[in-house]
Amino acid sequence: MRLFAILTMILTTATLAACSADNASEKSDNETSIISPIISSEDAKDPYSYAQPEIARVTHVDLDLALNFESKNVSGTASLDILANDGVDTVILDILDLEIFSVTDADGTALSYALGKAEEGKGSPLEIVMGDKRQIVITYKSGPNAKALQWLVPEQTAGGQHPYLLSQGQPTLNRTWIPTQDSPGIRQTWKAKISAPEPLTVVMSGLSNQEPEDVGEGRRAFHFEMDKPVAPYLIAIAAGDIVFKALGPRSGVWTEPVMLDKAAAELVDTEKMIDAAEELYGPYRWGRYDMIVLPPSFPYGGMENPVMTFLTPTFIAGDRSLTGLVAHELAHSWSGNLVTNANWSDSWLNEGTTSYFENRIIEKLYGEKRANQERALNFAGMEETIAENGSDSNITALHLTGENASPEGGVSGVIYDKGASFLHTVEAIVGREKFDIWLESWFDRHAFQPATSALFLADMRKNLVKGDAKLEAKLMLDAWIYQPGLPSNALRPDPAAFAEVDAAAKDYASRRSLDKNLWRNWTSAERLRLLNKLPEKLSAKELAQLDNDLGLTNSTNNEILFAWLNLALQNRYAPAVPSAEKFLATVGRRKFVAPLFETLMEQDNWGTPIAKRIYAQTRGGYHSVTTGTVDELVLADR
Ligand code: BES
Ligand code: ZN
Repeated sequence: MRLFAILTMILTTATLAACSADNASEKSDNETSIISPIISSEDAKDPYSYAQPEIARVTHVDLDLALNFESKNVSGTASLDILANDGVDTVILDILDLEIFSVTDADGTALSYALGKAEEGKGSPLEIVMGDKRQIVITYKSGPNAKALQWLVPEQTAGGQHPYLLSQGQPTLNRTWIPTQDSPGIRQTWKAKISAPEPLTVVMSGLSNQEPEDVGEGRRAFHFEMDKPVAPYLIAIAAGDIVFKALGPRSGVWTEPVMLDKAAAELVDTEKMIDAAEELYGPYRWGRYDMIVLPPSFPYGGMENPVMTFLTPTFIAGDRSLTGLVAHELAHSWSGNLVTNANWSDSWLNEGTTSYFENRIIEKLYGEKRANQERALNFAGMEETIAENGSDSNITALHLTGENASPEGGVSGVIYDKGASFLHTVEAIVGREKFDIWLESWFDRHAFQPATSALFLADMRKNLVKGDAKLEAKLMLDAWIYQPGLPSNALRPDPAAFAEVDAAAKDYASRRSLDKNLWRNWTSAERLRLLNKLPEKLSAKELAQLDNDLGLTNSTNNEILFAWLNLALQNRYAPAVPSAEKFLATVGRRKFVAPLFETLMEQDNWGTPIAKRIYAQTRGGYHSVTTGTVDELVLADR
């Protein structure tokens, strides 16, 4: 493994050097724009893309699209700049369910193209014969079920008056609305002009330096630009009846009018978070940091779309107890957006590094107690998942291989917390000061570039370990990245983090009573810890008592409400069904929705009919990300 890592490092460095030389000669009209290198080593190849970036690659995307709310599609043109070797006359893009009307060069001369066979989830290669042209224009529209896009009816919004559009690109969904090379290792700058019917406002994951223009027929066009090369999964769009409130000099929040004050109050610390993140790991390089709080059907907690983090409204608890989510998405501005996993087998580079960084932001802003608690909570969850999968199962390795390396392979969540745990362990061994200097320099050395596990380890060895054999042995780097389970040197969270809660949980297990005054003073993490530590089997009487004493059904904290509903359904507690139904009818966040349906389905004759009945009513309101998972749980014959 060691030799492999070194070889990869040499290969990669050579490739990068070659690419940089290329860049110098390929000056675009924008003097400052960067063309990012492609890593051409084997471990950086992306099996979920048809593109052959070493031969011909997209460097810039220019979109001119109309949002059509009646027909639920986007239509218009994508103009692509291609960087290709001399003599290369074709370029391959990734598309899924797009209707292509024409492909031309920049002058409008038709180019021939062919659509290859579609593969499940991956879509089709679109092979374009461009000759010696290096600009192509594709006229197209998205299909009726474009997986990235969710078209909401007014009833699914807080205001209830206007339709809404939101997108989710990661990991491989953007090919359902943008014809480009949809691979995280192929960075592209982009521009967009998007028209939408009044009074809707459009936002994207790029800066908007121009007022919207009236384009007739009751429509306005909005302009956006991302002048830094980004992975294509980071192109995102939302449109609706939304308004903006500034939070600080470079940050603000978009959301529906009735949500604005609540959202802004929950996000008051954003500017401080950016400052804290910069103090930790260097300058924020993207200009603005805005967020949009979406309708509750958004399938994730958050998505780190550059300059415009997308957030679920379910993080709003009223007391800012769930803003670790914001720290997380902000941290991706370094880990993920600046330095990006070259393919999905190294998702941990994005998610694990970000989870570590998130915790450091929380510590800086809110202190060690909250940070240690959140760490301990996540660590316990990770240990449980590792135990469920078996500590010899490869799905628990950081670098995923084979089937586990699918774009969704990281969904078990292990890569998040094991990745964070890895970096906490390295930090503890080398010391915080040294570690922070190295991590900041890693982001800096690889800014606007893809990265692999091998590259990460090579960099760590070169710039942190520096040949210290004793240190190398202590760190167990290869075990952390390539082996399943948790290495023996893992730094365990401070057991004191939850001393009081764990004692109360133990007490409850034997006496079935809990001091509600304790609960009242606990933090959100402490309450979640308690709910996770309660006995798995509880009687209806005990559940009623808990709900009554702790106010669980009425909790404004969705993490707590979810944990409660899951516990109640696990115990076939009928009085919780109406609240579960209400929750599932409004919230589309997969992390909540999928486990609740799974729990119901596990309750045989009691829960299966309930799950099927509820899902028949709620499915239409979920994003494809959520239905993709829940269909398998509820609709598949079992
Ligand atoms: N980038 C992820 C969301 C994602 C991961 C989308 C994989 C598609 C494939 C985002 O940053 C994330 O991790 N969100 C978490 C929140 C976080 C606090 C753990 C979520 O949505 O729950
Ligand atoms: Zn993340």
